[in-house]
Amino acid sequence: MRRLVIGNWKMNRTVPETVALVGSLLARLSPAADREIAIAPPFTALSAVAPLLKGSAVLLAAQDLFWQDEGPYTGEISGVMLQDVGVSYVLVAHSERRRHLEETDRIAGLKVRAALRTGLKPVLCVGEDEVERASGRAFTVVRAQVARGLEGCVPGEASRLQVAYEPVWAIGTGRAASPAQAAEMHDLIRQELRAVLKDSARAVRVLYGGSVTPDNVDELMPAPGIDGLLVGGASLHAEQFARIASYR
Ligand code: 13P
Repeated sequence: MRRLVIGNWKMNRTVPETVALVGSLLARLSPAADREIAIAPPFTALSAVAPLLKGSAVLLAAQDLFWQDEGPYTGEISGVMLQDVGVSYVLVAHSERRRHLEETDRIAGLKVRAALRTGLKPVLCVGEDEVERASGRAFTVVRAQVARGLEGCVPGEASRLQVAYEPVWAIGTGRAASPAQAAEMHDLIRQELRAVLKDSARAVRVLYGGSVTPDNVDELMPAPGIDGLLVGGASLHAEQFARIASYR
């Protein structure tokens, strides 16, 4: 399976800043056949970025979508609209949306369905917070997030699905999960995927995210069950992201 590295820019960069960053990123990235690279700039920059990525090895991702395709949903963006501007991947239920916008597992499930229905490849984000880990509930929490987020998914959809394990305590803290911690959780996610998708579960890529940097990437990527990365802060620096994407 090809690995996948996605840069999540979160709520950063204006359109001119985005164009400049994409330019310096494309100048530094060296495409490799065994990995896919995608960037998720903010919605406002998607249509400016799409033509810049044409013919390059970098795919376009979005940070969210709404679960209806069109209609009276003020402020929302649908999968149809994302398709229209050339988006391939879409993040679903990132922990920052769960936390600040109270997105639930039910909403995550609706969004995964909407992404698949509109021809996008969803990246369902899951992960426990610090309190849940400290109290020994991390496995239960993540298992439920995967099961509910993928409710209604069938084996035939597996090759278009991604799950990103992003422990909340590792996001933006400089404290990445250890390779052993990540491998343990990726194994549990894989078990849950098998329960939902049977043998096809092996086609789903399970990414790790949370304080990935050029310094820890070569330690994390070889850990068992890590099929790629979801990179936040470091993806806003062309040199760092290019280095991460060229993990050994
Ligand atoms: P950081 O890499 O900044 O920790 O963010 C991770 C993340 O939330 C990616 O979606």
